[in-house]
Amino acid sequence: MATKRLANLPGTTDRRIDALLTLLAENSTIVISGAKIAKEIGVTRQQVWRWIQKLRELGVRVKGHPRSGYHIERVPDILVPQMISHRLLGTPFARRIYHFFKVDSTNAVAMRLGESGEPHGTIVVAEEQTAGRGRAGRSWVSEKSAGIYCSILLRPPIPPAYAPLLTLVAGLAARDATAEDLDVLPDIRWPNDLLVGGRKVCGILTEMHAEPDRVHYAVVGIGMNVNQAKMPAELSDIATSLRMETGKFHSRLELLIRLLRHLDRYYNQFLAEGSQPILRRFAEVSSYSEGKRVRITTATESFSGTTAGLDASGVLRVARDDGGLIEPVLSGDVEDAS
Ligand code: BTN
Repeated sequence: MATKRLANLPGTTDRRIDALLTLLAENSTIVISGAKIAKEIGVTRQQVWRWIQKLRELGVRVKGHPRSGYHIERVPDILVPQMISHRLLGTPFARRIYHFFKVDSTNAVAMRLGESGEPHGTIVVAEEQTAGRGRAGRSWVSEKSAGIYCSILLRPPIPPAYAPLLTLVAGLAARDATAEDLDVLPDIRWPNDLLVGGRKVCGILTEMHAEPDRVHYAVVGIGMNVNQAKMPAELSDIATSLRMETGKFHSRLELLIRLLRHLDRYYNQFLAEGSQPILRRFAEVSSYSEGKRVRITTATESFSGTTAGLDASGVLRVARDDGGLIEPVLSGDVEDAS
């Protein structure tokens, strides 16, 4: 495979910090000398020491042994590329992973990368976002290293009318990735909210650049609440985290790997077999697909009704209470109604 250099993006994590972390994590049972680390990653011992301080500030527990070297106390849950890429071999997500300790929005970065010609499968991941974007102009609260904040650049050979299917594909992947960590099965509220016990643990924002008959690129941004101990007061009725639901810490690294592997599987199925298997799977796992009483709020109106399945392009059909007509809902907020 041809390897293209990663774009030189300001703010991405220095590849040598990535290498340092990976070296420590892969040798977690032994003490490695500062000199050996310095030689392996090609920096001075002083630089190794400075980076170890930085990692400690980020919560990585690195023990320093006065004469012998460094030792990591447990494998850190930081989503640096080297820890992820070898676990994604065989998928398009293994080769181009951009990691930030802090960034405004991984979607914003991925959209820029899409514009500059980065290939299908490029991943942007951050430990923290300062301007995480949600649907309908809302923001996405992105506490440092507590959640997964990841954007995936796709170049799907589909017309834009079928783009809602990409959101469903990502929602199914997120659902399967989290189901393994939960005692109760998560639900998907159309189009993209993953719910546990009626509260949101994951949201997906799909943005794209297209012309009428062709998508140039799409960015699927996934925000998952994983190890937050509590949600901000204004969100506590509607949002939760996997940790809050289970009382346990969850490995963001394992969740992200599973998420991307499931995404690869559903995406390939969508391209090979079309929308039907995706729609069938959505109907199996989402209580919102059919027969659910809902209140819909779109940019222009709000109405209540009963869901009546999805059409072939993933649009939700709702039988309106006022007149009983079936309304196709292309985008909007869905709430439970009595
Ligand atoms: C929603 O409103 O439910 C969608 C939330 C999507 C949040 C994710 S976090 C990673 C990616 N970067 C962003 O700025 N937004 C998405």
